[in-house]
Amino acid sequence: MTLNENEITLTINGESMRAWAPSRMHAADFLRQRLGYTGTHVGCEQGVCGMCTVMVDGQAVKSCLMLAAQLDGAEVRTVESLAEGENLSALQQSFKRHHGLQCGFCTPGFLMLASSLAARGETMSREQIRDEISGVLCRCTGYEGIVRAVEEYLQLQQPKGSHPQQAEEASR
Ligand code: FES
Ligand code: FES
Repeated sequence: MTLNENEITLTINGESMRAWAPSRMHAADFLRQRLGYTGTHVGCEQGVCGMCTVMVDGQAVKSCLMLAAQLDGAEVRTVESLAEGENLSALQQSFKRHHGLQCGFCTPGFLMLASSLAARGETMSREQIRDEISGVLCRCTGYEGIVRAVEEYLQLQQPKGSHPQQAEEASR
């Protein structure tokens, strides 16, 4: 810590912690460099690519557009919160099943964005999903697998039989 650093107290992936960051450090660098959560990727640092997406107080945010100091008192979730040990979460399994990644650089951003969509508890059409995930860019996949993975995961989060597709299948 230097004289120009701010004290930041936050909860990250369920763990309370205290750290320091310079006034001009953005939240993505703070998470990666000061706290070691390197699953949060940094691409453009201008709010365009979405690689740095994390959840802050339940909302998906581009952490390169926030100052580290703005995380004081916040509840943050990064991609490291998803897997339990060696076991992939249901969302990660959906991405794997539908080939929703190639190089994987964009994947943490999509996973955290999808987590925030699931937290809303809404059903969504493919078009809505495409629209909702448009804030994260992928140069490899063509998006089809990502959309299918998010769609499947959102359906899994719905109470059984409540999604229109599930209801249709049940009536066959
Ligand atoms: S690094 Fe944050 S949007 Fe690109
Ligand atoms: S998988 Fe490579 S950028 Fe998306």
